[in-house]
Amino acid sequence: EVSFVLLLLDITPMLPVLEGVVMELQDCALSLLREIIPTDKEEVAFKDLDVAILVGSMPRKEGMERKDLLKANVAIFKSQGTALEKFAKKTVKVLVVGNPANTNCLITAKSAPSIPKENFSCLTRLDHNRARSQVAMRCGVPATNVKNVIIWGNHSSTQYPDVHHCTVNMSGSELACFDAVKDDAWLKGDFISTVQQRGAAVIKARKLSSAMSAAKAICDHMRDIWAGTPEGEFTSMGIYSTGNSYGVPEDLIYSFPVQNKDKSWKIVDGLAINAFSRSKMDATAIELIEERDMAVAFLAV
Ligand code: LMR
Repeated sequence: EVSFVLLLLDITPMLPVLEGVVMELQDCALSLLREIIPTDKEEVAFKDLDVAILVGSMPRKEGMERKDLLKANVAIFKSQGTALEKFAKKTVKVLVVGNPANTNCLITAKSAPSIPKENFSCLTRLDHNRARSQVAMRCGVPATNVKNVIIWGNHSSTQYPDVHHCTVNMSGSELACFDAVKDDAWLKGDFISTVQQRGAAVIKARKLSSAMSAAKAICDHMRDIWAGTPEGEFTSMGIYSTGNSYGVPEDLIYSFPVQNKDKSWKIVDGLAINAFSRSKMDATAIELIEERDMAVAFLAV
């Protein structure tokens, strides 16, 4: 029988707040939860882990340069990567959520060289779910009727939500997304910018970044790693690029269309890419290269 022990790591001043989270988890009466261990010690939190979900990062504050943000996060994720290397199982599945998620994930993977690169991923499922839902609302169907959207690249405003391989089930027939929506201008314009800017729009409205939708996306992502994606469907995950798929440069954590099986993933190969898609896929890769080069320079210090 599957059951969980939850290890919750936070910085020392936040331990009293973490107690509140522990109480809420207890109050959920979760059927599979056996034990909760709150701690401020990496050697406790990372010991023998099967799954690590790294949500904590340094958020950008007013007046902060992108460079300062990266520097602070390189320190955090280098430390957590090193702890994974030392204490976790070599089979651990690591999901990085804290922003800038792709580059934080790359730094974590580089700091844990004995854990296979395939075990690391970053969250673009939230963007994937956002894209799916935007199309569903436009067509007046449930989100589950929309399949195979793709998020390419960075979890940032340069990401490319691609619907060229997406289908929509309308009144029992499976239509190509462009035929279902019947508004190419929207799909190539406002749809893309809405998904790209959704995180910022949520922050503007809530004065806090997304919480419930991010938690749901984390659950979707991990469940797919564990249980596999449904037959004929794919999802989006930020994974390590070896330079062998879709002309994406190597040594980046880049979001691709993937299928999950046996606790692993495979990039969905052979999808046709038109010039419109190509330029957007390249633009987000360029941003990731810039982030990587700046982060790796900090890593060497
Ligand atoms: C989101 O996509 O909702 C977040 O990544 C936004 C943010 O910057 O926290």
